[in-house]
Amino acid sequence: MDIVDKAFIKHSYAGEDSVKEYSDATRAVSLWKSEEIVFERYLKATDKILDLGCGTGRVAFGLVEKGYNNISGVDLSEDMIAEAKKICRQKQIDIPFYTGDATDLAFEEESFDAVIFAFNGIMQIPGETNRLKSMAEIARILKKDGVFIFTTHDRDKEKDNESYWKQEKYLWNKNRQDRRLVEFGDLIYSFHDREMFIHVPDREEVLKCLAANNLLLLEDIFRDEIVQENDIVKEFADECRFWIVKKQ
Ligand SMILES: C[S@@+](CC[C@H](N)C(=O)[O-])C[C@H]1O[C@@H](n2cnc3c(N)ncnc32)[C@H](O)[C@@H]1O
Repeated sequence: MDIVDKAFIKHSYAGEDSVKEYSDATRAVSLWKSEEIVFERYLKATDKILDLGCGTGRVAFGLVEKGYNNISGVDLSEDMIAEAKKICRQKQIDIPFYTGDATDLAFEEESFDAVIFAFNGIMQIPGETNRLKSMAEIARILKKDGVFIFTTHDRDKEKDNESYWKQEKYLWNKNRQDRRLVEFGDLIYSFHDREMFIHVPDREEVLKCLAANNLLLLEDIFRDEIVQENDIVKEFADECRFWIVKKQ
């Protein structure tokens, strides 16, 4: 029984089923209404934008369709990137997509106006040290006053899960937690026949990570406080909190 690591995450986002799920969403779900509102509020059409943890490019293609014209995408999963490139060819859209790791990005310092890590992707990096590394990398490649937009779940606000986290706390205190987990807040769940990992933070934890990287909080807001999403989006993705922060 191995601890959750990068190989675990790569495995959960590899293979036909996983790629199909995101490829279908890239075509049929596209940008959430809440994303559109947030992006319109904080991004200019000419901004150089990185869609980090892009999957098959749901956000990148959605942005191009809205008139943004300088987007790149990076994902850990080779399969996701291969599919994103295939969609590029089908749509005859030229978006540079690269395989890469958010904790070690192959971009120059201060080269982007904005970075987006959509659909809770940053919380699929196991270990707070690694998530901090990823935020440091994002801060490094952002220009001064550049914007970083990401989403997370919130352990304290999702009332349905209150008893789950209470029980987890009890198990961690007794050192009886699932041995594959790295820290409290970690969750392994099944999706179709795959095991997936996500870290579910509380608000304080995210604020601490931002402060450690000198990233200034502009706004944090729950998705359903921005807008009510349609059923297609709700089926694809649960409620989450949007974070909009700036490099100082
Ligand atoms: C929930 S999916 C979201 C995909 C896409 N952004 C979307 O919203 O449809 C999270 C994505 O983050 C990617 N990911 C996880 N860890 C990563 C890392 N360290 N570096 C880059 N991408 C990563 C996964 O491979 C996966 O494609």
